[in-house]
Amino acid sequence: MEGPLVPRPITMLGLESSCDDTAAAVVRRDQAGAVSVVSNVVFGQTELHRAFGGVVPEIAARAHAEKIDICVEQALGDAGIPLLNVDAIAVTAGPGLIGGVMSGVMCAKGLSAATGKPLIGVNHLAGHALTPRLTDGLVYPYLMLLVSGGHCQFLIVRGPTDFTRIGGTIDDAPGEAFDKTARLLGLPQPGGPAVQDEAALGDAKRFKFPRPMLDREGCDMSFSGLKTAVLRARNEVMIGDTIARSDVRDLCAGFQAAVVDVLAEKTRRAAALYLAETPSQPALAVAGGVAANTAIRATLETVSEECGMRFTAPPLALCTDNAAMIAYAGLELFEAGQRDGLDLSARPRWPLDNASAPMLGSGKKGAKA
Ligand code: KG4
Ligand code: ZN
Repeated sequence: MEGPLVPRPITMLGLESSCDDTAAAVVRRDQAGAVSVVSNVVFGQTELHRAFGGVVPEIAARAHAEKIDICVEQALGDAGIPLLNVDAIAVTAGPGLIGGVMSGVMCAKGLSAATGKPLIGVNHLAGHALTPRLTDGLVYPYLMLLVSGGHCQFLIVRGPTDFTRIGGTIDDAPGEAFDKTARLLGLPQPGGPAVQDEAALGDAKRFKFPRPMLDREGCDMSFSGLKTAVLRARNEVMIGDTIARSDVRDLCAGFQAAVVDVLAEKTRRAAALYLAETPSQPALAVAGGVAANTAIRATLETVSEECGMRFTAPPLALCTDNAAMIAYAGLELFEAGQRDGLDLSARPRWPLDNASAPMLGSGKKGAKA
């Protein structure tokens, strides 16, 4: 007779190289089911791209190819775990800048071929979407707002390969809007933190910015009109080439208030759709760089309370691109039986939810998510 199923400990190595961070990590789930990030190494490329005002795919790909094996070595070293002791190797296989994704996939294939360890291809967006299970142990299904420089979407997360997108931006992502607003006002990049700091000192009521698509049903959003509104308002208050600091602060405050209002209302609507399914432990999780915004976070927390949902936001290091999320998603996929062969391909596009209508746009900045 078979005894009760005792989960065995699993140690996963994860690799990530889909945009401008080369990352490797080791994640472990112990016999009791507790998950921990044993090591998490990220080599950023911000300096390499700074002069170009955005990520240059060729430069990114070369830097990934140069660094990925060093990164893996460091992650295993930090963890004190030899490669032969990991159970499997998980790697981002898309979506992303194809040269970078290929660097990671090639490296993971090499490691898998050399050691005989199983290879697991992971969707980068699934990595973000599953992070609250790693950090807060959320149970399926939960509602996720993925909000970054390249993406903005509401997902109902039901399992490691089971996602329903119930809405998202039809043009720019909010992070992109923060970055463009900062550029218009002469603030440093990335714009989010700078705009947030100025907004804290400004008057949010002085400029009346639009709240796009609130008049339309559903959870879709639009942020591209907002930056045009900021541009117009800025031009009205500029004297010659200069703009007063108080004007910058008021413009930032007005802009941020508009983003907050849109996200709050659309989150309420997404919550209504999600709660209609009567989840056993209702929860909203937010992820992506914009989740660092304190005003947005506070508002989402209030909306969650209103709707009777638990609210979680992973720590920033696990919200932005990292390999721990890839290792963790790989762990769930490994348990679900996924095994990839050496024919695993790198995919520039890879929607999480193939069943929902395609997005008109998911942020124009590029493949970063
Ligand atoms: O997730 P992430 O690190 O990378 C992308 O996928 O893009 O997000 C970066 C984005 C940038 O657009 C940045 O301006 C924005 O997140 N961001 C913020 C804040 N911190 C970072 N936006 C608003 N408020 C913040 N405090
Ligand atoms: Zn990402």
